[in-house]
Amino acid sequence: MISHYCCRIRLGFAISIARLSLFLPFSPVALLSTSIMCNVEGPPLKKRKPQPLTDVDPLPIYLDYNATTPLCAEAWSAMSKVHDVWGNPSSTHPYGLSAKYHLDVARQLVTDALKAASPDCIIFTSGGTESNNLAIVGGAKGVREAHPERKYIISTNVEHPAVAEVLKHMTEGKFEFLLLPVSSVTGMVEPKSFQSFLENAVPGGPQNVALVTIMFANNELGSVNPIKELVRITKEVCGKACLFHTDAAQALGKVPVNVEELQVDLLSVCGHKFYAPKGSGALYIKKGVKVHNVTYGAGHEKGIRPGTENVLVSTGMATALYFAVESIDRFTTNMRNTRDELFKVLKEELAKVNMDFVVNGDIAVALPNTLNCAVFKMIPNHVTGDDVTYISAQRLLMAVGDKVCMSAGSACHSTTDGEIEVSAPLKAVNVDLTRAIGTLRISTGRETTMADVRRAARVVARTAAQQFAE
Ligand SMILES: Cc1ncc(COP(=O)(O)O)c(C=O)c1O
Repeated sequence: MISHYCCRIRLGFAISIARLSLFLPFSPVALLSTSIMCNVEGPPLKKRKPQPLTDVDPLPIYLDYNATTPLCAEAWSAMSKVHDVWGNPSSTHPYGLSAKYHLDVARQLVTDALKAASPDCIIFTSGGTESNNLAIVGGAKGVREAHPERKYIISTNVEHPAVAEVLKHMTEGKFEFLLLPVSSVTGMVEPKSFQSFLENAVPGGPQNVALVTIMFANNELGSVNPIKELVRITKEVCGKACLFHTDAAQALGKVPVNVEELQVDLLSVCGHKFYAPKGSGALYIKKGVKVHNVTYGAGHEKGIRPGTENVLVSTGMATALYFAVESIDRFTTNMRNTRDELFKVLKEELAKVNMDFVVNGDIAVALPNTLNCAVFKMIPNHVTGDDVTYISAQRLLMAVGDKVCMSAGSACHSTTDGEIEVSAPLKAVNVDLTRAIGTLRISTGRETTMADVRRAARVVARTAAQQFAE
């Protein structure tokens, strides 16, 4: 028998209590899904306790590389070589000078990896979130200082919270932001729509724009934006004083990134997405671009990012970035091959149990490692025709938990009390609530094997079929 659970629908406020089946058949309720949150009850999902990975045997297959990556051997080796470099890089005695030397080496590696003009363009940070805050708040303030009329910030409706939340707080600094909708088919920014948006949507005209911030690649759908073209349009329409920032957290190590070629003013680097330590990152600032500090303290990092630099972590990050960029062809070939094999085998295995999956967004323009999809079964319905019935991704993840690690979290932000919210990228490509709840984000890595993905596909298909039969 199919068990039931309750789904409370809110449209700004609670408007309805509706019952959906465990497998979320497509229903009129789902049509309300674009701006709703729902509270999934019913057979309670067992909350998993934190536990050391050593207690899990055999190790699960990890297919969640867009969430984070392990530390690469190259980064670890470089870090171990500087483990006894403990001086303060600002000190002028030999201990300090040694720390400064190693920090300079790291800065040069990041410069080379990004193809930046000079090490002066690199500011070390604690990761993607901090880099985005610094770029958007500090960059926009820098523009406004010279051009008080430039009070608008342009972004998209699919940014990571590390950008979207910053924008909300910019209004306190008397900035206003405008969000450009991405293509509902691909999840990408279309250059023509972008140009028209800049020309027509900004009160007072495009010369009032201080900064444009558009992510390089989306963390959920994997959609990659044509950044070079978007920079060109920005400068042409809004003028050279308008800055262009891109959050390259998901792009680095997966697509080529050359800051000089792209002509971006600001680019955020997030270490833990390319096999560097967590809590590591950088902000690229083009020569001549003024960025205000957003935290206050001493004059580290040219006064833009106060706080004693972390030589150990910056060394690991810089080495990992250099290695990721140097070997990008080899790594992305493996990511793509394994992602595509996963796609193929998952289709085959699901077909054996009369099921299938649908891709959210457009895999043709996605990062080489990303598959965002929802598993479903067609249930014959003599009245309405066949119903598309999605499998709850949360339940599927619970069921495969110790065997395959994937993500549903980005699609549905599950909070402690079980609330689920359709994510902005899924809304942007017209994914309704039932499909969003059924959405899995699967992302492969540089060392994922064909055997891994084939096994993972079989486990997912078998588990989905079992869930259906329960
Ligand atoms: C696109 C994007 N931007 C920013 C971040 C935040 O980076 P961090 O975790 O280093 O603060 C992430 C991490 O998930 C991301 O995917």
